[in-house]
Amino acid sequence: MTTISTVAHLTNGDVSPEPAANALVSARGLTKSYFGRTILDGVDFDMRRGDITVVIGKSGSGKSTLLRAMAGLTDPDSGLMTIDGTTVFENGHRTEAWKKESAEVGMVFQTYTLWPHMNVFQNLTLAPRKVLRQKKDELRARAEAALSEVGMADHIDSRCTELSGGERQRVAIARALMMKPKLILCDEITSALDPPVAAEVLGVLTRLKQEEGIAVALVTHDMAFASKAADRLVFFSNGRIRVDTTPDLAFNSCDDPELAKFVDAVRF
Ligand SMILES: Nc1ncnc2c1ncn2[C@@H]1O[C@H](COP(=O)(O)OP(=O)(O)O)[C@@H](O)[C@H]1O
Ligand SMILES: [Mg+2]
Repeated sequence: MTTISTVAHLTNGDVSPEPAANALVSARGLTKSYFGRTILDGVDFDMRRGDITVVIGKSGSGKSTLLRAMAGLTDPDSGLMTIDGTTVFENGHRTEAWKKESAEVGMVFQTYTLWPHMNVFQNLTLAPRKVLRQKKDELRARAEAALSEVGMADHIDSRCTELSGGERQRVAIARALMMKPKLILCDEITSALDPPVAAEVLGVLTRLKQEEGIAVALVTHDMAFASKAADRLVFFSNGRIRVDTTPDLAFNSCDDPELAKFVDAVRF
């Protein structure tokens, strides 16, 4: 594996075998196979507080599987994962602590992110009502605040089917905010949007990092966003983190031929 030495402490090859106690999410040796095909091949990954991390890599390289594992939507076959220093996954199983700690991790997807038969307020309050057992009335102010964060406060009673693609994604981010996450995982959330609308949605993430200190891990092909807003760039290849570095080093002085080829192919 080729790594960029200036941030070697972040790379798969050089991380400590123990999970990082100060990381928001720390994964060690995550593996996952589907039908005998290895999708995650021993992933070591630390998400630091307040970072925007852009994850790139070829289609099928395992990016979504990694994010889904961090969100608890896919259970790895083996490995260890901690959230805020607490073990949430080990020996192939989620631990008792999972339920409490996982509330700190929200996720937004490319499509089908909102329940179409519910309005915006209902979408935002479903999880807090079911998981946190909060009352609908108490949640009105929280929903208004979350929607304000994404510039959608006027749409609290809108039907989701009336919203544009960009508005839906902003509501989806607001829905994640309702659980007061420390980390939001975003899987190609702007892929179906026109560039100016995509830039607006990604701008929301930058603001959340700056104003709320929320960390973001984002799978995207948007290299302009990566170079402008990301603290860190992770290149995924064949189920492993091949390079973990800064966008500046990745784009301007990359010594990994596979990453250089990938960046050339997606850069506009
Ligand atoms: N639930 C699943 N069942 C079977 N195969 C899956 C499942 N999820 C993902 N895969 C396979 O794992 C591979 C990696 O998927 P994914 O993590 O979505 O990659 P990426 O997001 O990098 O495109 C793909 O080839 C996909 O077909
Ligand atoms: Mg994917």
